Amino acid sequence: MTHSSSSGTRRVVVLGTGGTIAGKAASSGDNIGYTAGQVAVADLLGGIEAPAGVTLVAEQVAQLDSKDMDAHTWRELAARCAHWLAQPDVAGIVITHGTDTLEETAFFLHDVLAPAKPVVLTCAMRPATALSPDGPQNVRDALAVASTPGAQGVTVVCAGTIHSGLDVQKVHTYRLDAFASGDAGPVGYVEEGEVRRVRAWPQGAPFDAARLEAVSKPWPRVEIVMSHAGASGAIVEALLLPSAEPLRGLVVATTGNGTVHHALEAAALKAQDGGLVVLRATRCANGRILPKPGDGLRDAGALTPVKARVALVLELLGVAALPESEGG
Ligand code: SIN
Repeated sequence: MTHSSSSGTRRVVVLGTGGTIAGKAASSGDNIGYTAGQVAVADLLGGIEAPAGVTLVAEQVAQLDSKDMDAHTWRELAARCAHWLAQPDVAGIVITHGTDTLEETAFFLHDVLAPAKPVVLTCAMRPATALSPDGPQNVRDALAVASTPGAQGVTVVCAGTIHSGLDVQKVHTYRLDAFASGDAGPVGYVEEGEVRRVRAWPQGAPFDAARLEAVSKPWPRVEIVMSHAGASGAIVEALLLPSAEPLRGLVVATTGNGTVHHALEAAALKAQDGGLVVLRATRCANGRILPKPGDGLRDAGALTPVKARVALVLELLGVAALPESEGG
């Protein structure tokens, strides 16, 4: 269902998926005891002025708590983005989303669409019913980015900061400024409706229907296991037991520079010898795995375990990886 507001020659489409930004609590003083995904995206736009010359179009794609994000919703979201981006008068897209898996959705859309127009995810840390909700300002800032001439690629706007969809990570459980871009740093800032960019927009490319087509196929099962003090190979062995949906890929969330507890590593190497595709991704919040001669398990560079899982699903679906962040 779509809903339009204001009038202008260019359109910005706002796709709703749920999250705290659309959350409701019983009292305005409660910032944590709410139910996510309650308010329709068209209602989230109430009272928000569209940027000059822009008409807003609202469309509800999903209405969920993003901890429950799934392949079906990601496919649907990518398809709706592709549909709207193909309209010549659409300047860009804003996606309202929960904060909890926002970085995974951003990375997925970056890899599948690499849009030549802006696709801007935004969110909130306080529900819509809060005394002082952060959602309306985040939406306003996201609209500014989506309607900025020359903007492109998947970005995330939260608390006045623009992050690349490739680099962004949720780094705080409670503060309004809950996201960071690690070593790459933010793409820029939004100040009073103006975008101040400090590095290049994320990569954009001509639309490739084959990438979208590939993700419409059934997804291979890829799981994440963590290396930690006292780890064993038991979880890997359990994952390899006969199943209706056999395991196709495994991400090992490693310590430090890609190191893995010897017992878990032995199980992962054995699984790899048996045909499982295994990838190491560091559990450190910042930095990348620097490969060393003799590494037995492939590494995912700077990707976090959750992004490495998305990358591995896409690889197994035959979607070629995009080059990493230019960061400049
Ligand atoms: C969610 O991720 O949907 C709930 C939490 C949030 O948006 O902050």
